Amino acid sequence: MAKKLFIKTYGCQMNVYDSARMADVLRPLGYAPADSPDGADMVILNTCHIREKAAEKVYSELGRLRRLKDAKESGGDGRMVIAVAGCVAQAEGEEILARAPYVDMVFGPQTYHRLPEMVAQASRAGGAVLDVEFPVEAKFDHLPDHEGPGAASAFLSIQEGCDRFCTFCVVPYTRGSEFSRDAVAIEAEARKLVRAGAREITLLGQNVNAWHGEGTDGRNWRLGRLIRHLAEIDGLDRIRYTTSHPRDMDDELIEAHGAVDKLMPYLHLPVQSGSDRILAAMNRQHTADDYLRIVGKLRHARPDLALSSDFIVGFPGETDADFSATLRLINDVGYAGAYSFKYSARPGTPAAEMEYQLPENVSDERLAGLQQLLGEQEAAFHRTKLGAEFPVLFEKPGRKPGQVAGRSPWMQAVVVEAPETLIGRIADCRVVEVGAHSLHGEIMETSIGDESGAERICA
Ligand code: SAH
Ligand code: SF4
Ligand code: F3S
Repeated sequence: MAKKLFIKTYGCQMNVYDSARMADVLRPLGYAPADSPDGADMVILNTCHIREKAAEKVYSELGRLRRLKDAKESGGDGRMVIAVAGCVAQAEGEEILARAPYVDMVFGPQTYHRLPEMVAQASRAGGAVLDVEFPVEAKFDHLPDHEGPGAASAFLSIQEGCDRFCTFCVVPYTRGSEFSRDAVAIEAEARKLVRAGAREITLLGQNVNAWHGEGTDGRNWRLGRLIRHLAEIDGLDRIRYTTSHPRDMDDELIEAHGAVDKLMPYLHLPVQSGSDRILAAMNRQHTADDYLRIVGKLRHARPDLALSSDFIVGFPGETDADFSATLRLINDVGYAGAYSFKYSARPGTPAAEMEYQLPENVSDERLAGLQQLLGEQEAAFHRTKLGAEFPVLFEKPGRKPGQVAGRSPWMQAVVVEAPETLIGRIADCRVVEVGAHSLHGEIMETSIGDESGAERICA
C-alpha cells in the first residue's frame, strides 16, 4: 500500500514548485500525496523565513504535528517521519532540532533531490538528518520527471537565489547566490508541462529577470530572448514571469512585452518604497524616478499592461515624508494589485542593526493607509473591465455548483456558469459583473456557436 505523504507549503511560489518536486522525488519510494497530516507516514513543512510571523508559524505547527505523531506511533500504526524543509530549515537548521527534537529530517531548498538518501538514513533511526548545504551539484539535474496530468497553469523554476542583498531580506542567505538553469533544460521542462496539460507557464525565480544562460544557439541569452523562444512552443498559450527586480528590467525584456502576444499583460514589479532615501537604505539600487521611467517604457511597449508591486512600510528611519512619497508613487503608477507588509527585522540582515526601528503603532497606521489606497486602486482596475471581452483560461470548478473559475490575461479571477469540461481550456468571455475579488462573466456566443468559435473553445 502506498505510504501517505502530507506536504504543507508556506511562502512564495518557488516553495510551491519545490513542494511539487519533493512529491516527484518521493513517488518512486512509494509515497503518495494525502490531504491531511492525520496518520500520514511522512509530513513535510516547506517553510518561509521572510518575516518573523512566517517563521514562528513553523514552531506552532510542529507542536500540533508532535501530537499526531505520538498518537500514530503509540497506536502501533507505524512511524510518522516529520521533516522541515525550505527557508526556515536553511536558516535555523540546528535550532529547529534543539527546539523540536522529535523532528526527523531538516533540509534546505537546495538539497531535496537527496531525499531518498535522507529517508534511508532517517529510517535507520539514531538521530535526525540535517542537510542544509549549498551543494556543488545542481538539484535540477537530479530531479525525476513530473508525472500524471498537470494543471492548466503551471510553475517552472528557471532561476534561484539572489545576489541583490536588499538590506531587509533573508533570501540571499536562505536560497544562496544566483543560479540560472540553461535554456535547453527549461525548454524541455516547458514542453513536458504542456504535454501534461499546461496552457500557461509562469517562469519563477527569486530574481527572475536576472536570468541569463546559454541559449539553444550557444549564445548567452537574457530573459527577453528566452521568453521569445518559449513562445514558439505549440499548445503553450500564456507566459508569465515572477518576481522581477527593477534594476534587471532590460530593454530586450521590455520589448518582449510589446512583441510577444503570449506574454500576458500583467507584471509584478516590486518597488518597496517611493522614497529615494529609503530605497537607498534598502540597497534597492534605483530611485523612484528610475522605477517610473521603467513603468513608462513598459506601458509604451504594451499599453494595456497592468502592474502589481510589493511594499514595505515602517522600514528603519522611515519618516512621514518618506511614507508620503510612497503614496505619491502609488498614485503615479496606478496599480492593479499589490502586497504590502510591515517591516519585520530579520536576524543577520543589515537593516535589523539600523537605528530608528519604528514603533509598531506607527507602522500599523501607515500600513492601513497604504492598503486603503491600494484596495481602491485594485477595485478601480477591476471596474475598467466591466463589459470587456477577453479570453479566460479556466483552471478549476467555481465555489458554487455549475460554475467554473479561471483567470483573465491580467490575473483577475473570472467566474462563469459553464460545464467543468471547460477546465484546461481558453474561451472568450464577456464581463457582466464586477465583484470585490473576482469578475463574473459569460461565455461569448462566438466561442460556442460557429465553428471557429468551437475551435477556440477546444483550443
Ligand atoms: N525577490 C522578490 C521578493 C522577495 S520576498 C523581490 O525582490 O521583489 C517578497 C516580499 O516580501 C518582498 O518584495 C518584500 O516586500 C517583502 N519582505 C521581504 N523581507 C521583508 C522584511 N524583512 N519585512 C517585511 N517584508 C519583507
Ligand atoms: Fe530579497 Fe531584494 Fe533579492 Fe528580492 S531582490 S530576493 S527583496 S534581496
Ligand atoms: Fe519565503 Fe524562502 Fe520564498 S523565505 S518568500 S519561501 S524564498
